[in-house]
Amino acid sequence: MQKWFNTAGPCKADIHYMLPASERLPELEKLIAQENYFVIHAPRQTGKTTAMINLAKELTESGQYVAVMLSVEVGAAFPHNPQLAQNSILNSWWNQVRFLQLPLPNPSQIQQETGVSQLDLQTVLQAWSMASALPLIIFVDEIDALSDETLISVLRQFRSGYPNRPKGFPQSLALIGMRDVRDYKYASGGSDRLQSSSPFNIKVQSFTLSNFTLEDVNRLYQQHTDATGQVFTSEAVNLAFHLTQGQPWLVNAIAKEIVEYIAKDPAIEINVDLIEQAKEILIKRQDTHLDSLAERLREDRVRIIVEPILSGQELVNTPEDDLRYVLDLGLCNRDSRGGIQIANPIYREVIPKVLYFTRLKSADN
Ligand SMILES: Nc1ncnc2c1ncn2[C@@H]1O[C@H](COP(=O)(O)OP(=O)(O)O)[C@@H](O)[C@H]1O
Ligand SMILES: [Mg+2]
Repeated sequence: MQKWFNTAGPCKADIHYMLPASERLPELEKLIAQENYFVIHAPRQTGKTTAMINLAKELTESGQYVAVMLSVEVGAAFPHNPQLAQNSILNSWWNQVRFLQLPLPNPSQIQQETGVSQLDLQTVLQAWSMASALPLIIFVDEIDALSDETLISVLRQFRSGYPNRPKGFPQSLALIGMRDVRDYKYASGGSDRLQSSSPFNIKVQSFTLSNFTLEDVNRLYQQHTDATGQVFTSEAVNLAFHLTQGQPWLVNAIAKEIVEYIAKDPAIEINVDLIEQAKEILIKRQDTHLDSLAERLREDRVRIIVEPILSGQELVNTPEDDLRYVLDLGLCNRDSRGGIQIANPIYREVIPKVLYFTRLKSADN
């Protein structure tokens, strides 16, 4: 089957060029076997969802576990109403479990058995774990879409079921998101109640996903060459790596623009000029990924860090939380001497443009 570079959400091995998802994660199997709960955090569009969906699939196929990746994103609409958030999360979870045909009881079976009419996450996770012949592994995606009371409620339920694992609660559970939950004070609206210890204080370890290396970019682009005969010169691959610093979405977006639009004919060799052209188009079009970063520049705590960096000033007295937030977003990273820099040359071009227009707009108002 023909494959494509993917820029729309998680990759699927049958239709997308992709690097093996499992090699992007550290050894999680041991952690899972040891009944640990943990956190996977990385900026948007780094490949978290792709990697964890694959891991869940591999674990289930191993015949040792029932593993599933479930998202809490739909709960984002109800930050102050945990009950409504939970109802919509449980609906989406049940749809996913049904779609994957996992052998787990449905909501009405759980209601009947427990006598609980208003189901919550804890009740459902307990019922699933008790009913499953194999230990249950749950990966909770988009955890930082939740905030305020809803986030607290969800984390507290995980914590409160934790002692009953693996028979009465998932053997292992991972929170997947942008922030390390230790620092999610802001994500939860900076509410005072959260400044104390984390409600997910059972967390033992947290992991992150790195950007692609030059070698990774080479291997990914080579898949297209192998499939179509269209060659990337090594200077072109080097330049793509330089411009993106291996940011996975950007790496795909540049190649996609070239092979599907600018140089569709596989006889055309992909050189540095084509890479430059693709970069210009992405920046001009401000594709989804760049747009969602631009959105963050509306936040004061992001601007107070990014603006001085762009104008080459020293960062002074920057609150540690704000700094960590900007690093978690993937807008900035640390240079070899530990200083803070904009994460890659493409962002470095996009950000000043966005800031300029943001200023024009606020001058209008
Ligand atoms: N294993 C992979 N190989 C190649 N590209 C990938 C891989 N995983 C992710 N990507 C790129 O990153 C993008 C975002 O992937 P996704 O899994 O949705 O990330 P996240 O969950 O971190 O936002 C994909 O659209 C694709 O461009
Ligand atoms: Mg994701």
